Amino acid sequence: MTILILGSGGREHTFAWKIEQSPLCKKLFVAPGNSGTAQIATNVELKVTDFDAIKALVLKERIDMVVVGPEDPLVQGIHDFFLNDKQLEHVAVIGPQKAAAKLEGSKEFAKEFLMRHDIPTAAYQSFKTETVEDGYKFLETLKPPYVLKADGLAAGKGVLILDDLEEAKTELKHMLVDAKFGAASSKVVIEEFLDGIELSCFVLTDGEHYKILPNAKDYKRIGEGDTGLNTGGMGAISPVPFATNEFLNKIEERIVKPTIKGLQKDNLPYKGFVFIGVIKVGDDPKVIEYNVRMGDPETEVVLPRLKTDLVEIFKAIAAGNLNEINLEIDERAATTVMLVSGGYPEAYEKGKEILGIQDIKDSIPFHAGAIVKDGKIVTSGGRVMALTSFGDTYQEAIKKSYQSITKLTFDKMNYRKDIGFDL
Ligand code: AMP
Ligand code: GLY
Repeated sequence: MTILILGSGGREHTFAWKIEQSPLCKKLFVAPGNSGTAQIATNVELKVTDFDAIKALVLKERIDMVVVGPEDPLVQGIHDFFLNDKQLEHVAVIGPQKAAAKLEGSKEFAKEFLMRHDIPTAAYQSFKTETVEDGYKFLETLKPPYVLKADGLAAGKGVLILDDLEEAKTELKHMLVDAKFGAASSKVVIEEFLDGIELSCFVLTDGEHYKILPNAKDYKRIGEGDTGLNTGGMGAISPVPFATNEFLNKIEERIVKPTIKGLQKDNLPYKGFVFIGVIKVGDDPKVIEYNVRMGDPETEVVLPRLKTDLVEIFKAIAAGNLNEINLEIDERAATTVMLVSGGYPEAYEKGKEILGIQDIKDSIPFHAGAIVKDGKIVTSGGRVMALTSFGDTYQEAIKKSYQSITKLTFDKMNYRKDIGFDL
């Protein structure tokens, strides 16, 4: 098969690394890709939301399957675009259709879905510009901290957690009235605060059957001890030690099964990854959010633990017989540590040469914000590279990731030195 992966992060390099190992993959394209994907596939420069450019590429290269990395093209309906085009309808697209991608594209839609299907989640109400006064009143009925969520996609920045009631009211006004997050905050979901530890659960579905992938925990804050600003993710561990079989059973029975049934009942066509952000409150799981794609950097620890041929899995998803697939999982722990540009997640410089990649022997370097320029590998983003390692325990694996980091340098390189500290 000829396969196209859309995206350019560590997640997409990991997809490319895994897909390239499949005997079913004859030719692999990544658009736009990065310096990591350039080593194992053909990069094509285009925007992942430029559907016409993607169509032209798919026709020119006779691509059979498109694997969608990020959420934007899914929320904008790339799967439907393929299904509604006579020249493209035969191409397998891995990712939900637009109606289902709203689970990530609208927090209110996701909350209504969760309530309708009786899936445990935080209590909430949603507000619009016209009902901002009701929002203030609702905040007064809650205890701090206050959780405010922009309804639409806000590049991971749309959730505010505030301790002070007056500040919460001011921020609500900024979001609803002053368009703090643009159109994304023309609606705001206000939620009950849940106190607990989080994990990321990943489910594959063909719309009818499902398979649960290894779970993971990511570290979102820039600073050690989970302090400072939110980032895309500074590291990840799989499996999550506190996720016992009993707890995972609760997740499957109370969350995964009703989610897949709910998609069918509501006629939400879904062939792809469901990423469920779960929080453990006491001994019980609750849903924090749905994403309609894989996580980054969770992919960098989840896919390396998957022994089964990923292209075979994708073919089964497209054909609707995922039930015939048997997932084989590596029992070892995997960890990844993200190397980032100094200054990230605020302003940072680009174009710094990355040295020492070839000296890394005990980890897999998954490139993220890194590109080839004038024959050199240079930084091109905030999150630059994720170093993934295996071990019999996560402690052993994380030690390897940190040892590998000593081989690598670029100007103003930064990373968290405490991934796994809380486990
Ligand atoms: P979300 O984009 O919905 O995943 O929210 C981003 C982050 O905010 C989550 O990963 C949680 O750490 C935190 N968060 C979201 N909703 C809640 C909640 N109801 N209670 C506590 N923390 C939350
Ligand atoms: N690592 C969290 C995410 O991909 O959204």
